[in-house]
Amino acid sequence: MLIESGSPVPADTRVGISLTINGETRALQVSPWTSLLDLLREQLDLTGTKKGCDHGQCGACTVLINGIRVNSCLTLAVMKDGAEITTVEGLSALAAGGAGANGLHPIQDAFIAHDAFQCGYCTSGQLCSSVGLMNEGHAHSRDEIREAMSGNLCRCGAYTNIVDAIEEVMQAGTTPGDAPQGAAR
Ligand code: FES
Ligand code: FES
Repeated sequence: MLIESGSPVPADTRVGISLTINGETRALQVSPWTSLLDLLREQLDLTGTKKGCDHGQCGACTVLINGIRVNSCLTLAVMKDGAEITTVEGLSALAAGGAGANGLHPIQDAFIAHDAFQCGYCTSGQLCSSVGLMNEGHAHSRDEIREAMSGNLCRCGAYTNIVDAIEEVMQAGTTPGDAPQGAAR
């Protein structure tokens, strides 16, 4: 990481930002070094987003920023001032046809139907990444789904079932909405 010379940032320095998180706009005070993941989990109590490696290697922390999937552990919260964030807690609101009878997004229903998890630790990241993948529109085959989901690790090895679930939702055409608005990954 590049450390620029100059005056050090005082430990109590906070920066005011505004984020719309799961449809609710919030004015927040954050330290310049706070990751989006830590902001969500530690400051906002949105603990559905998981911390696995904290180094951008496992995908457990994946959320959607303006519809684009992002590793929130590698994203400084201050850099996303004004962005729309969707975590697993807000995923159902993105369903193009509305949430199902059980209040879930179709991809969540499909994960349940296909047993696409065991311990569940990776699942919120897998779900957000699946929606991001469908927003991107680049994956059209099982191999392409596998490739596009390769940044989301599952220690329980539920990969085949995860691909089954994504493929089913893609084939049903219940694409998730919340199209990308140009945010960087
Ligand atoms: S916790 Fe962010 S990629 Fe592992
Ligand atoms: S379900 Fe356990 S790590 Fe994926």
